Amino acid sequence: MIIEPRMRGFICLTAHPKGCEQNVKNQIEYVKSKGKIDGAKKVLVIGASTGFGLASRITSAFGSDAATIGVFFEKPPVEGKTASPGWYNSAAFENEAKKAGLYAKSINGDAFSNEVKQQTIDMIKADLGQVDLVIYSLASPVRMHPVTGVLHRSSLKPIGGTFTNKTVDFHTGVVSQISIEPANQEDIDNTVVVMGGEDWTMWMDALKNAGVLANGATTVAYSYIGPEVTEPVYRKGTIGRAKDHLEATAFSITDSLASINGKAYVSVNKALVTQASSAIPVIPLYISLLYKTMKAEGIHEGCIEQMQRLYSQRLFNGSEVPTDDKGRIRIDDWEMRTDIQDKIAKLWQDATTENLSEIGDLPGYKQDFLNLFGFGFEGVDYNADTNEMVNVPSIS
Ligand code: NAD
Ligand code: NA
Repeated sequence: MIIEPRMRGFICLTAHPKGCEQNVKNQIEYVKSKGKIDGAKKVLVIGASTGFGLASRITSAFGSDAATIGVFFEKPPVEGKTASPGWYNSAAFENEAKKAGLYAKSINGDAFSNEVKQQTIDMIKADLGQVDLVIYSLASPVRMHPVTGVLHRSSLKPIGGTFTNKTVDFHTGVVSQISIEPANQEDIDNTVVVMGGEDWTMWMDALKNAGVLANGATTVAYSYIGPEVTEPVYRKGTIGRAKDHLEATAFSITDSLASINGKAYVSVNKALVTQASSAIPVIPLYISLLYKTMKAEGIHEGCIEQMQRLYSQRLFNGSEVPTDDKGRIRIDDWEMRTDIQDKIAKLWQDATTENLSEIGDLPGYKQDFLNLFGFGFEGVDYNADTNEMVNVPSIS
């Protein structure tokens, strides 16, 4: 069938298998062009199908020749209906890994469940014995708690008062004021349950107790800080409480991994267009100003550039892992540069519907958003009859 983008607000209902494949191939080429990284050889990536998790998996496989197991929650295709992009990404990744002679298998299911954890442990035992790196890159609006069976929903709300600021509808370019009502305690608690560190702890406990973590194993989860303008809805809002919890969890996991000389890190990454970040009010306007400013300075990065730099210059740089005063790895260093942030703060004041096309990078935002679903890639014939059914035996 001819597959076209069908946009509905913050999501696209279709995904293009050839475009997703092109996206994965481009990321592989980028990692290869940067040379080998002396990194982990057996890697588990939880949240491996899109965004930072996919880029981490690609960097491990094609930067360090690592065997990878990926866990994700994606929709396979059915006759006449495309898969979710993460499915096609993973299918393409598996095919490329196999061509390169690299072990790659995936588990498609709910990472928050005990069953998927056990399935992963069984796969590691059967195929790899142990893993030496665990990337934790889940982004989800809901979590079914494996002990209580309660379905928790996260929210993106300020805490303590209504937040009013500018936002942009990135489809139309219209800049408007948005007001978001404050969270109550239940919203905060639920968001921490979904996006905080409890599930990361459960994963690391399960892996350690099963004996599938190698001596000296490392685990890394991803966080975000960002600028003052987004603080009420991000870092000082409900999601920020979850990130505080996630960051604190790194210390408790490091303690519990002492017996195997393991270590847990949080890496603070740059703001990027992903399915998760597009749904957060105010952030798309910030990202469009950020992209424009960083591109002008020649320091713009996407997920793969970020993860390649995380691996080569932080995690596996041949010496100690550099961290900030709170023990976090900072790969948002270029985003947070004072000169960059000063420029954005000024642009933020000025931004209107009329001038955004000039002062912000809306085309760059839209392009990245289309790319998430496999659209807008050079070298892909979008008019061609395309088979939506992609069969991947190594995804269980
Ligand atoms: P993403 O939406 O691109 O990826 C989320 C991944 O989680 C996908 O692989 C998805 O399949 C998987 N997933 C979701 N629910 C699942 C479930 N129940 N079981 C198994 N897999 C599930 O998100 P992303 O933007 O790459 O975010 C990853 C992490 O990076 C998050 O912690 C996020 O907060 C953080 N981060 C994001 C940004 C940003 O700007 N996008 C910046 C800094 C940090
Ligand atoms: Na991810």
